[in-house]
Amino acid sequence: MHRGSSLRPAVHIMTPSTSPRDVQRRHFLRWLAASPLLASAGGLSTFEDLIAQEAPRRTFDDLVTTAQEALDVFDLEKVAASKVPLAHWGYIMTGVDGEETQANNRAALERIYLRARRMIDVSRLDTRVTLLGREWPSPLLIAPAGSQRAFHPDGELATARAASARNHLQTLSTVTSTAVEEVNRARGEPVWYQLYARPNWNGTVALVQRVRDAGCPVIVLTVDLNGGSNRLTVERYGRIDERDCESCHREGGRADPVKPMLRGLPTGSRGGADASMTWDYIHQLRDITDQKIVVKGLVTSEDAELAVGYGVDAIWVSNHGGRAEGSGRGTVDALPEIAQAVAGRMPIIVDGGFRRGTDLFKGLARGATAVAIGRPYLWGLGAFGQEGIERVLEILTRELEITMRAVGTPSLADIGPHSIGVD
Ligand code: GLV
Repeated sequence: MHRGSSLRPAVHIMTPSTSPRDVQRRHFLRWLAASPLLASAGGLSTFEDLIAQEAPRRTFDDLVTTAQEALDVFDLEKVAASKVPLAHWGYIMTGVDGEETQANNRAALERIYLRARRMIDVSRLDTRVTLLGREWPSPLLIAPAGSQRAFHPDGELATARAASARNHLQTLSTVTSTAVEEVNRARGEPVWYQLYARPNWNGTVALVQRVRDAGCPVIVLTVDLNGGSNRLTVERYGRIDERDCESCHREGGRADPVKPMLRGLPTGSRGGADASMTWDYIHQLRDITDQKIVVKGLVTSEDAELAVGYGVDAIWVSNHGGRAEGSGRGTVDALPEIAQAVAGRMPIIVDGGFRRGTDLFKGLARGATAVAIGRPYLWGLGAFGQEGIERVLEILTRELEITMRAVGTPSLADIGPHSIGVD
């Protein structure tokens, strides 16, 4: 994440000038740049300086005016940064403390290199993955993210429609700004549901019951925020953006700020996750639902062993995009110990800083079964709504496919620790 740097980007890009007059002017400038007269006069001294002065400039916004014009997910980040209200942008951008963990999610990925094998038939690729009994065409998943109407009026519905159009698995946040029933309708099938345990057990029971009735096959119990988190960027951005944007936080025009999935739950339902939670909670959940249970937020082999022992169905390796504890460790670096502990006994999902096809590949090589994205699709949403998210999914899919061909791994099963190295 480019902390602080991409608030309102101003990227100036020169347009190529090709008319005879331009060519003539370029020749003249090149001559001028080479002239000792100019050098001794100080100021502009290179051809590039002169061209930069002369050439008409276009801003980044001129270049990416539609989702299709975005070339990578960072293009959509820049567009979204110019459209999403600053306080809401702070919510997307924030990590914890000085955001070292968030930065290390990326840095850890960047330290890994690819070991490309040549002369392998990669004319046909197989990117199918099976997760908890269901086959998906791609290992790229949509992670839960709260309050999506804060980034685009269509919010979670845009995400559901994009997930449906490109057939990716979507996980819906407990703090969604659109109710699960509506999201499932837009997705065309029930999504996975991310659960923040309510401080009141009856609240959890009611919530689980509701999403089970809605048909959600999987509960993704998120355990990395139970102790709270120290988020500063969101606080700072909120202070800069002094607008009263209460209307942004209404649902369906109502001035009731309670999130739709928390409305009407037994008392205590507006608090955070339960700080007293231990592994017995898995048994408690098992007693009230037959849905599959994924535990999200694990980063150590010890916890992976416990998850296996407690009969969890899958592990989601995550530090909440650097928004949970300030561990300073990138999730891709937690993968090897977890993959070793799990030893193929259950699927492993990972998120945290995955921004390019090469990143997805590295996560898979380190032992993940599937890779989830959070901020990139929120950038797509903030930039162009559903189309922006579809573009993010399209870009990352294409990049992953290019990487698989380049490295000589025609199927996901061919990708492994041998496909990467670390400097
Ligand atoms: C919610 O999950 C958040 O990270 O704010």
